[in-house]
Amino acid sequence: MGIKKVGVVGFSGVMGSGIAQLCASCGYEVIGCSRNADKNAQALERIGGFLGRAVEKGKLSEQDKMAALARIEMTTDMDLFAGCDIVIESVAENIDLKRDVFAALDRVCAPDTILASNTSSLSIIDMAMCTRRPNKVLGFHFFNPAPVMNLLEVVKTIATDEATLEAGKEFGRKLGKNVVVARDAPGYIVNSLLIPYLLNAIRMLDRGQASREDIDIAVKLGLNNPMGPLALSDFIGLDTLLFVADVIYEDSKDAQYAAPSLLKKMVTAGWLGKKSGKGFYEYK
Ligand code: 3HC
Repeated sequence: MGIKKVGVVGFSGVMGSGIAQLCASCGYEVIGCSRNADKNAQALERIGGFLGRAVEKGKLSEQDKMAALARIEMTTDMDLFAGCDIVIESVAENIDLKRDVFAALDRVCAPDTILASNTSSLSIIDMAMCTRRPNKVLGFHFFNPAPVMNLLEVVKTIATDEATLEAGKEFGRKLGKNVVVARDAPGYIVNSLLIPYLLNAIRMLDRGQASREDIDIAVKLGLNNPMGPLALSDFIGLDTLLFVADVIYEDSKDAQYAAPSLLKKMVTAGWLGKKSGKGFYEYK
């Protein structure tokens, strides 16, 4: 089955709008859905801003920018997903909310539409079992910023059939991503490795082993990473980091995923990183 039309639930979020931008830039018709029309409009403006910057840098023509934007239709009504070949769910990391979304998608979409979740840690089979097509459900874990990062983790549950997995991998490649396949266990590949590293950096700061700047500079320059671990934690969102760590810890009981108290305190204080203006660093 050729994928032509893509639905994105949670369009107003950073990941949802990034995924919609990516799909529209790769020539797909996109329907972006969120519960709030004003937030939809803000998301489209954000996408226009990123594409506009690419035009300024000479990486994209004005015509291609306008064509990509024209391929994005916005809605607050999931009924519009009826004509989609694949729908990617990217709503908040709340399993009850995701269960409701998958049940609603199952009612609205054609029986052969593939349903994918961009969750970073929640159980895909749990969502799949809210549908009558668990064989057509898989995980699509994108990395932030979705249009820029070259990796897609495709997550196969025990119920995902081979045709769906192959279609998902093919679609990921058409989006220009390198595709890796992971099983449906919290953390997949990247977060299983990333979370202990980020939590260790926070523990290092907390015990005063080095300053935040020196921790970040050391990793940036010593390991040639684009960001140090504290800046990256702020970029991901400290609430998201804590959530993912808690989910993996709950599943594995492995102490390396146990969140340090400094992280918990910062989230309690509303210091969520870049999105709230304050985390390990301050942001305008
Ligand atoms: N949409 C489109 N393009 C974007 C973008 C967006 N949302 N955000 C940044 N860009 C583009 C810029 O336009 C620029 O493009 P260009 O090179 O063609 O001109 C390019 O990305 C680089 O951006 P900037 O020049 O503004 O800034 P930097 O050079 O500092 O790069 C960064 C920013 C790409 C975020 C880089 O710092 C980076 O790669 N950081 C690491 C990000 C990372 O590790 N992400 C994964 C997080 S883990 C995760 O998502 C999993 C989750 O489950 C926790």
